[in-house]
Amino acid sequence: MIFNKEVSLKAYNTFGIESVAAYFAVISSKQALKHALQNAPAPLLVLGGGSNILLTKDYYNNAVIAIASKGIEVIQATSNHVYLKVQAGENWSDFVDYCVATGYGGVENMALIPGNVGTAPIQNIGAYGVELKDVFESCTAIEIDTLKETIFTNEDCNFGYRHSIFKTSKYKDKYIITDVTFKLTKGTPIFYTSYGGIFKELECQGNKELSIGAIANAVKRIRTRKLPDPKLIGNSGSFFKNPIISKCNFEVLQQKFPDIVFYPQTDDHVKIPAAWLIDRLGLKGHTYRNAGVHLQQPLVLINKTGEATGQEILALARYIQEMVLENYQIHLEFEVNIL
Ligand code: EPU
Repeated sequence: MIFNKEVSLKAYNTFGIESVAAYFAVISSKQALKHALQNAPAPLLVLGGGSNILLTKDYYNNAVIAIASKGIEVIQATSNHVYLKVQAGENWSDFVDYCVATGYGGVENMALIPGNVGTAPIQNIGAYGVELKDVFESCTAIEIDTLKETIFTNEDCNFGYRHSIFKTSKYKDKYIITDVTFKLTKGTPIFYTSYGGIFKELECQGNKELSIGAIANAVKRIRTRKLPDPKLIGNSGSFFKNPIISKCNFEVLQQKFPDIVFYPQTDDHVKIPAAWLIDRLGLKGHTYRNAGVHLQQPLVLINKTGEATGQEILALARYIQEMVLENYQIHLEFEVNIL
């Protein structure tokens, strides 16, 4: 049997939370995945890169699987584009580095995002003006109950801000993505440099000519300054989503907080940086036992001492939610999945 018993999950979640799985298997192929699904000795729990989860229990009486299938394959190429089929267990950041080194454009703004390729579509990862949906062609997913394979196109996935069909009740925890096909540029890339200080960063570095490599490097420098490296300080990136509220509610809020930062949306809504809301409450650097709010980016909660429990991080997150609700009448949603 491929499952091992009583395995620590500390190395399999970027928060670095200590927790034990009753059964655990690393899965490297579709065949092994199907075998594991048919023979799981306990209810299944699937981990991707472990970068968007918070383990809140000391012990999971589950059959936990970590997807580690590897492979990048060119399945089609035209004069301007290339279609790459990438296995779910490829590390996202390594995949971006590969594309940049090979001259494939489209993912460079998403450099250094933690996690795996197979979990990237679930929450439609994004950064610096580009989202996964902009380069996503399709993915293959296996239905857990029937082992049936289905191809989901970009349209099928119904992508939104940190959202996809895989987060809806009909699909959540019912499918496992086994590979993703990307449509990337070759030769003539399109550059997105207007968002989040990329242009300024390129200027500071004295970059005269734009290239996908220069953008990836600029993004890496910005991220490294602002976001903690999970290898050094456990975290899951943004813990909260940026809330989207009606224009009406926003106008009331703006009267109370004239300096509020906001991004108008295409409909009658406004997106507000959760970082601003939390910062304004003086919660940067706030700690609860071993858990903390990151000093440079208060959207990010950290395993401050390396000894935090999932419950401590959750308590801190709930406290922030309460404070935000009390002060701004806004419900902050978690971006991270609580397990
Ligand atoms: N701000 C403060 N205080 C701070 C930091 C920020 O007031 O200490 C305010 C500033 O006004 C700033 C605004 O918040 O302009 C937004 O801050 P920032 O650009 O750093 O973060 P964000 O735009 O809200 C999002 C994503 C990040 C992504 C960046 C860059 C979400 C929840 N987060 O952050 O994604 O890297 O944009 O595109 O959408 C992730 O999902 O894990 C993640 C890190």
